[in-house]
Amino acid sequence: EKGGWPSFMAKEVAEEPDAVANTIRGRVQDGAVVIPELDGSDELFRGIDRIIITACGTASYAGMVGKYALEQWARVPVDVELAHEFRYRDPVIGENTLVVSISQSGETMDTLMAVKYARERGARTLSICNTQGATIPRESDAVVYTHAGPEVAVASTKAFVAQITALLLLGLHAGRVRGTVSAADAAAAVADLEALPAKIAKVLADEQAHVTQLAGWMADTRSVLFLGRHVGYPIALEGALKLKEISYIHAEGFAAGELKHGPIALIEPGQPVFVLLPSPRHSALLHAKVVSNIQEIRARGARVIVIAEEGDAAVLPFADEVIRIPLAGALFEPILAVVPLQIFAMALATAKGLDVDQPRNLAKSVTVE
Ligand code: M6R
Repeated sequence: EKGGWPSFMAKEVAEEPDAVANTIRGRVQDGAVVIPELDGSDELFRGIDRIIITACGTASYAGMVGKYALEQWARVPVDVELAHEFRYRDPVIGENTLVVSISQSGETMDTLMAVKYARERGARTLSICNTQGATIPRESDAVVYTHAGPEVAVASTKAFVAQITALLLLGLHAGRVRGTVSAADAAAAVADLEALPAKIAKVLADEQAHVTQLAGWMADTRSVLFLGRHVGYPIALEGALKLKEISYIHAEGFAAGELKHGPIALIEPGQPVFVLLPSPRHSALLHAKVVSNIQEIRARGARVIVIAEEGDAAVLPFADEVIRIPLAGALFEPILAVVPLQIFAMALATAKGLDVDQPRNLAKSVTVE
């Protein structure tokens, strides 16, 4: 079933352009997002004063990207809560709260219990799920399916990019229903979305060999750090999780701005650090801040691997390696930036002779609390 690929994970990464394209398909009409499954569910988005996104692991990082999209387009405050933390306090939720759960399997017990809890408290519930008819969507008021196709490898890849895609669609849908996003902004976002599959394919074509070679050189590395800001922060967390899961290397993701509040003490000569550099076209300030973070760690001897937009030369004097991604809107960049990190984890695990699809101690879906 691997269709000639060395692992399911390799196959699933290669399927990412399709996962995104299939998740968008049928949900765009004349430059606007219209999600047929949410027909008749406009009330879910009207009169809400808060959205809580709940999920575990990789799905929670997709949720952190989704927060930016929902706040920007639907103009509602959004919090992201790990599902297993959400239930064990006394959250302020009620009938004007929309709880959005995200789960590839739709069977993760922690997430399911969070959804049930939210319903008992009277909240409205919507699930983003990759598995038709799974338990979480059945327990929710509404569902938006990701169409990534079955994901077999324990490390989630194509489901993650499909989850972010679904959240971008959801943000635009909710913004249209609430009247908080202009037709022109929505049309521009839709064009950005529709361009993503070809751009992911380009990252795969241009960077797979480069990143694989990089991982080969780093097979003896004991620790890797990942830095990002804004939507790059959850991608830093996801890059670190992928590495932990399948290559058993200590890895940590940080918000780049936190560096000087502690983590910079970890930097010693030779420490590999991946940095997600946001495009200067979106925010010159954000870009400049991350460039200065890069200079700070470089000055302390870090080995810096930067993921940067094509043509961004600002970083060349300070980077040991530059991985390029095509230009995309600010909220769309994470879908491109995560791809090299997935390839890196996979290649490093392979270089260490590990089972990429079935890492030790982990199950594909965690059906116990
Ligand atoms: O099936 P789910 O999306 O609910 O799973 C959530 C997490 O268990 C999952 O994303 C986990 O973190 C993956 N192994 C990450 O690669």
